[in-house]
Amino acid sequence: MPKTSNTIAVAAATPELLEKAAELAARLEIPLSETGSDNYALLLEVTGEGLQLRRTGPGAPGPIRIDFTSGRAEYRRRHSGGRKETLIRAMGIKGKPRPTVLDGTAGLGRDAFVLACRGCKVEMLERNPVIAALLEDGLRRAGADQEIGPLVRERMSLRRGDILLEATRMEEERRPEVVYLDPMYPHRNKSALVKKEMRILRTLVGDDEDSDRLLPAALRAAIKRVVVKRPAAAPPLPGPKPDLDFKTKSHRFDVYIIDGGSLKDRRNRGVTIIKQNLIVALNRPTIST
Ligand SMILES: C[S@@+](CC[C@H](N)C(=O)[O-])C[C@H]1O[C@@H](n2cnc3c(N)ncnc32)[C@H](O)[C@@H]1O
Repeated sequence: MPKTSNTIAVAAATPELLEKAAELAARLEIPLSETGSDNYALLLEVTGEGLQLRRTGPGAPGPIRIDFTSGRAEYRRRHSGGRKETLIRAMGIKGKPRPTVLDGTAGLGRDAFVLACRGCKVEMLERNPVIAALLEDGLRRAGADQEIGPLVRERMSLRRGDILLEATRMEEERRPEVVYLDPMYPHRNKSALVKKEMRILRTLVGDDEDSDRLLPAALRAAIKRVVVKRPAAAPPLPGPKPDLDFKTKSHRFDVYIIDGGSLKDRRNRGVTIIKQNLIVALNRPTIST
């Protein structure tokens, strides 16, 4: 479950932003605090440059803010390896039209942005209200940007929600061709390899301890394939074995190919049925070659 209470408060960077911060705190149902306070592990700060999340206390790293217009996001947009990029190959992106994508674990939206830059229409689902607020703010600022605004407005959308629930009630016409998943993975090793963003995210959302249930839900929603990002040494998510995997130095993308029948057909083939949080059947999906 998302963790927010007793962990985080909203703060305004300047007195003029206090009203905005109070509104946000009320909407997210978390306390309002003073900036600089370390009564909470995390502060969600309303600043003139956008919303940012920071860890408090001595030695805390700098804040994270979602910015698709500069830094690493801009670099990945300008210098992509195109079809050679591992994520793009795993997603089966080649030629046109590009597949529609549901990013079921949107996080900071970095992978979704790469997919949108390569032409996919990406709907993002994020269940943690604070992460969703950061993402909403990042999308709003990117949407107003002269250069990437059109791309962001046309190809990226966000909904606050849980894919475990959404997949059980998805209307047939809204089903995406590809579902992408990148759940948190518990890192015993607290090395510098676990980047600042991931450490802050983990303080907020924990280890996505119900991620064992993600694959059946994604297989139920996707028409063509499910792609799961895992750390290189992590086992695949529980469920059917991946049909393909694509490796980078630090990660692996497990790919599950689905024969895109209707939900009823797939139910009849016994792909996956989740009922009252209980996996009733978990069989291998039909594979198309
Ligand atoms: C590792 S992060 C994803 C990072 C993302 N791929 C990126 O590029 O920034 C995992 C995110 O998935 C979200 N999440 C986990 N389980 C979810 C679920 N069942 N439904 C929606 N979001 C979920 C978590 O709240 C967290 O923000």
